Amino acid sequence: MDWYDCNKRTLPWRHRNPDPYHVWLSEIMLQQTTVATVIPYFADFLNRWPSVQAMAQAELDEILHAWQGLGYYARARNLHKCATVVAKEYGGRFPACESALLKLPGIGPYTAAAVSAIAFNLPGVPVDGNIERVISRLFAVEDPVRQSKDRVQGLAKKIMPADRPGDFAQALMDLGAVVCRPRSPNCQQCPWMTSCRAHQQRACEKYPVKLPKPPKPTRYGIAFWLKNKDGAIWLRKRPPKGLLGGMVEIPSTDWRSTPWPEADAADIARPHVKWHPRAGLVTHTFTHFHLQISVWTGETDGNTNADGFWCLPDRFSELALPTLMKKIVRHAST
Ligand code: ADE
Repeated sequence: MDWYDCNKRTLPWRHRNPDPYHVWLSEIMLQQTTVATVIPYFADFLNRWPSVQAMAQAELDEILHAWQGLGYYARARNLHKCATVVAKEYGGRFPACESALLKLPGIGPYTAAAVSAIAFNLPGVPVDGNIERVISRLFAVEDPVRQSKDRVQGLAKKIMPADRPGDFAQALMDLGAVVCRPRSPNCQQCPWMTSCRAHQQRACEKYPVKLPKPPKPTRYGIAFWLKNKDGAIWLRKRPPKGLLGGMVEIPSTDWRSTPWPEADAADIARPHVKWHPRAGLVTHTFTHFHLQISVWTGETDGNTNADGFWCLPDRFSELALPTLMKKIVRHAST
């Protein structure tokens, strides 16, 4: 705690008496995303929606739009759902109880523990990647990561100061981010250097013990960039559930595990359009697979009957276009 008191990072969601809404919002944003990326989004969201009630009244599309670039859009959809539940069922106040938090949309064990500790100073330790690393080094935990969460959490709880669980969790996060880094940790600056088992073994980087990752498969698709006489592009909205759910896309074939021969793709492309395959590929990596997209461009003066809508490229910035789709836009238009 002394180390934290002198070395804590100044972060916009950190206050002596933090607002649970701010803590929750920051924790959802910080999942899978770096602090540096989150900071401007956090400010923008609070500007647009200063309270959980304000967020509950927003349209999902506005939230998805503001979320653009943070990725993992299920988080944005759950953000809205959770705000609605907190506004309606809890009178706009997040419950000060880990098990009640856990029942809210988008709040898993990590986030419930983080909000409960940081916003309400309730005992418990959220185990994110940083905390996993710090604790597994401190105690030289030999179990591989996937199986060691409970063990790590138990060890962390044992050394948690009962009066400051919120600061303790954040101290571990900062220690992990700044000192106990994945590579070349800065042990000389660590308040735990002499008691750290991994340091004693001169084997910090061995922990946390990792099992080899299975390789990510590659999927393939063809996107159809269709322009009308006005220069508008044919777009469609993805189904509400699943990957990039509810986001806008350039229509494409399925993303399948084998490349698309032209003849297969031509069966799926809109007929009566002269399609031109563009040279090059758009590549993107999701959590579970790599994606390679080829782009075909075409023009039409016909009407459209498939479900979708025309939009001028000038107005794309008003849409919830995920990063992959922005890459396709760039590839198709340059
Ligand atoms: N990463 C996740 N939650 C965090 C927090 N509250 N402070 C700093 N980094 C974090």
